[in-house]
Amino acid sequence: MKGYNKKDGTKTSAFGSPGRINHDSTPFYTSRLYENLPKEEVVKYTENAIPFQNLDKIFNKTSEKMDELPDNSVHLMVTSPPYNVGKEYDENLTLDEYRAFLKRVCSEVKRVLVPGGRVCINIANLGRKPYIPLHTFIIEDMLNLGFLMRGEIIWNKASSGSPSTAWGSWLSAKNPTLRDIHEYILVFSKGMFSRENCGRKSTISKKEFLEFTKSVWTFSAEPATKIGHPAPYPVELPYRLIQLYTFEGEIVLDPFIGSGQSAIASIKTKRHYVGYDINKDYIKLAERRIKEISNFNTQNKFEFEGEKK
Ligand SMILES: C[S@@+](CC[C@H](N)C(=O)[O-])C[C@H]1O[C@@H](n2cnc3c(N)ncnc32)[C@H](O)[C@@H]1O
Repeated sequence: MKGYNKKDGTKTSAFGSPGRINHDSTPFYTSRLYENLPKEEVVKYTENAIPFQNLDKIFNKTSEKMDELPDNSVHLMVTSPPYNVGKEYDENLTLDEYRAFLKRVCSEVKRVLVPGGRVCINIANLGRKPYIPLHTFIIEDMLNLGFLMRGEIIWNKASSGSPSTAWGSWLSAKNPTLRDIHEYILVFSKGMFSRENCGRKSTISKKEFLEFTKSVWTFSAEPATKIGHPAPYPVELPYRLIQLYTFEGEIVLDPFIGSGQSAIASIKTKRHYVGYDINKDYIKLAERRIKEISNFNTQNKFEFEGEKK
């Protein structure tokens, strides 16, 4: 078989795709394609404790400075940033200003993450005339900050019903318009690919692992009216990322926490959370929802779409 040597295992093939048995991918990863991309660093794992009074808290301030969190103290950042599209919390920034703002937050995130800590950014693209590929700009900025990119998940929201009818010219090639039924979750890590577990255990089931390691996820969006926030994501989204990327008892940061969905997913998975939001009312909403969930009778097992499959 081409590319397969019984003794050495498979090698990246110059033609076609060989099977993958003890695959030696060194030729691919040392190729010139990787020349200008961030590289894995050899660093000693360090983890600093977050002061007790700052844990399981939401801070009412901008996440551009997160002084409450020491360097190397957070295991996962999961968030959906403000999109700068005229929601009540959005500022009317130019694309360059918006990118600079997100870069300030992400460089703080880099400081507070432990080596190998993960970043998951949920983002949708905007507009049609022309289309703004926000996810592309964010990837570029994250690479410039030195993050290692791990992949992108397409969140298929098609099951959410009432699809948009903004299809442009109906049944005509004059100006048909694509109707996005997906968003992205961009995944990065700081410095290293692998994570130290420091004696903590994974809580993901086999069924979840098989499902969550796929690059297309299908589950419904969360209605804003049900939650009382203009743009909540479903708890299912941070739940999957927490299960996949952290160990029990670890710390999840959401620098734009809104209605508190990331905190709720953290509580359900026995992780700690820290959140930031500039809007006092959203923080009140999040705190009320967190209290409700914390009082939830532990006899009731939380069930997620991922678990049902
Ligand atoms: C897309 S929403 C996040 C929604 C959240 N994922 C949820 O499920 O409810 C973005 C949030 O970022 C907050 N925000 C905007 N600018 C901020 C800043 N500079 N620092 C912290 N939070 C900010 C907004 O108030 C809003 O609640």
